[in-house]
Amino acid sequence: MNSCKVCDNDLKNIVNFGPMPISNRFLPAPPEEEFLYELSVGFCSECYMVQLEKTVDPEMMFNENYAFFSSTSKKMENHFDEMAEDILEIIANQTSPFVIEIGCNDGIMLKNIAKRGIHHLGMEPSGNVAERARENGVEVFTGFFNGKSALDIMEKHGEADVISGANVMCHIENINSVLEGAAVLLKNDGVMFFEDPYLLDIVKKTSFDQIYDEHVFYFCGLSISELAQRNGLQLVDMAAQGVHGGSMRYFLKKGSKNRVSENVTRHISAEREFNLHTLDGYLSFQKKVNKISADLRKMLVALKEQGQRIAAYGATSKSTTLLNFSKIGPELIDYICDTTPTKIGKYTPGTHIPIKSHQHFQTDSPPYTLLLAWNHQKEIFAKELEYRKKGGKFITFFPGINIK
Ligand code: SAH
Ligand code: TMP
Ligand code: ZN
Repeated sequence: MNSCKVCDNDLKNIVNFGPMPISNRFLPAPPEEEFLYELSVGFCSECYMVQLEKTVDPEMMFNENYAFFSSTSKKMENHFDEMAEDILEIIANQTSPFVIEIGCNDGIMLKNIAKRGIHHLGMEPSGNVAERARENGVEVFTGFFNGKSALDIMEKHGEADVISGANVMCHIENINSVLEGAAVLLKNDGVMFFEDPYLLDIVKKTSFDQIYDEHVFYFCGLSISELAQRNGLQLVDMAAQGVHGGSMRYFLKKGSKNRVSENVTRHISAEREFNLHTLDGYLSFQKKVNKISADLRKMLVALKEQGQRIAAYGATSKSTTLLNFSKIGPELIDYICDTTPTKIGKYTPGTHIPIKSHQHFQTDSPPYTLLLAWNHQKEIFAKELEYRKKGGKFITFFPGINIK
């Protein structure tokens, strides 16, 4: 039996995907053999945390070859400019504020804080993206944030006014130690906030590609409220974010007697309505996953049989789950286009589909394109007006298969 990483209770299985490769390990050439782990998710009825049952060693995922650079989307650039503005508002009345970002990646957010001369620190274990952040003027410590590094930071820099994190807290298996560390590191009136893909959106859309090695946890208000309490913090506000297919930002403060926004009550009631507090909320998930996966494969096979060519758009980490689980490889997809220079010329983990440049896609103009980066649909459709005008079609798959 697998046990909960927050409270040690037994986990109840929700969904299984079978053996999977490391989601962000794009390959220089199709290998003879690849590292695989068993991808499955369980639910803890004690603290409501939905989580991976088996995890991968963080150093296998986050190192100097990390493939994901945050600044590949204009929309995300804007999103993080706005997040920096939110931070400036929080620290407006502090005389010498200190801002920490966990998982600052290439500095997409923190560069906005750095350029204003505000005392800041980014924690980032992946050396290559951390270096890019430094080039962007950000002070970065190359390492994992945890209870111990929190103490080291406090010794060197003092207490923090803000600790933020985007798409990173859900990556950290020793989450209690992270929150414990944050509780020590925060000033008494300090704020910790973080945002991650929202469990209720994943369940509503069956967006199962959010489930992969890096995403150890699938948060909602119910679980974050419990997690905070167990570590001397309190969930005081929640704000939905229209990024990554539906994310939620959680605001935490020290102690247990803070004013709690009605947003928390509202979101948690919605979660309860969808039964996210009991196993019942997850009973049909596997069936829906299987159906989307089978329908998608069937449609791609049918197109191929008609002699159509199919490409894909966005070599995302999440597509590793979709492609491997649905058994979609180079026999169905000619190539995936992506703008990230370090991904171009490589092959997708497990399925070994070649990755090509955006220029290649534009000249090739394939009749059908599987939209793997579906969370960036608006930005991509705006960019590919010409392709669609010429008759090019995008295939989407959540909450069901669609041709657009
Ligand atoms: N915040 C950025 C990056 C998200 S990707 C964004 O939202 O676009 C997740 C990042 O977190 C990676 O750069 C990874 O190296 C980093 N990371 C993973 N575990 C971490 C930890 N324990 N402490 C700090 N950063 C971590
Ligand atoms: P994400 O869904 O995890 O943000 O990853 C998006 C991937 O898609 C990343 O590899 C960059 C790529 N991408 C493009 O190639 N073109 C685009 O226009 C956008 C928005 C993303
Ligand atoms: Zn638990």
